[in-house]
Amino acid sequence: KKILVLNGPNLNLLGQREPTQYGSTSLADVEAMCRAAGQRLGYEVECFQSNWEGALIDKIQEYGRLVKEGQALGCVFNAGAYTHTSVALHDAIKGVELPVIECHISNVHAREPFRHHSYLSPAAAGIVVGFGVTGYIIAMEGLARLRDKDNP
Ligand code: DQA
Repeated sequence: KKILVLNGPNLNLLGQREPTQYGSTSLADVEAMCRAAGQRLGYEVECFQSNWEGALIDKIQEYGRLVKEGQALGCVFNAGAYTHTSVALHDAIKGVELPVIECHISNVHAREPFRHHSYLSPAAAGIVVGFGVTGYIIAMEGLARLRDKDNP
């Protein structure tokens, strides 16, 4: 089974972008960490990043189909700033049977007020916030525990 690790806008610049906020690990390194965690947990991991809202929606719909066919477990999703703006991503998650764990590197609740609201949270199966890039791994483990009886 597959787990999708989905990253939204500006996360391609991870490691270079605001390192005091997001750390110095690159997205390629985070994705390698996720693949290793997937192997440990017994899943194939697909990593996808886009700066385009529609590309993220297409990927969510694709994984909705894969979950229905029993080929995927769910998704770890850092939607970046779309978290705070996108009704379309909320609807995309609601519209399919894909369990999504919302993930943020920084503690968004300790930052500017415009980061305190998430359109994704009401559609998410779980949320991981403020653990740095380790949050992706915590989210993958949480997803496995939530959705896979073989990973208690
Ligand atoms: C982020 C938090 C968002 O508010 C911000 O727009 C990001 C990254 C995080 O991982 O902490 O791009 O999702």
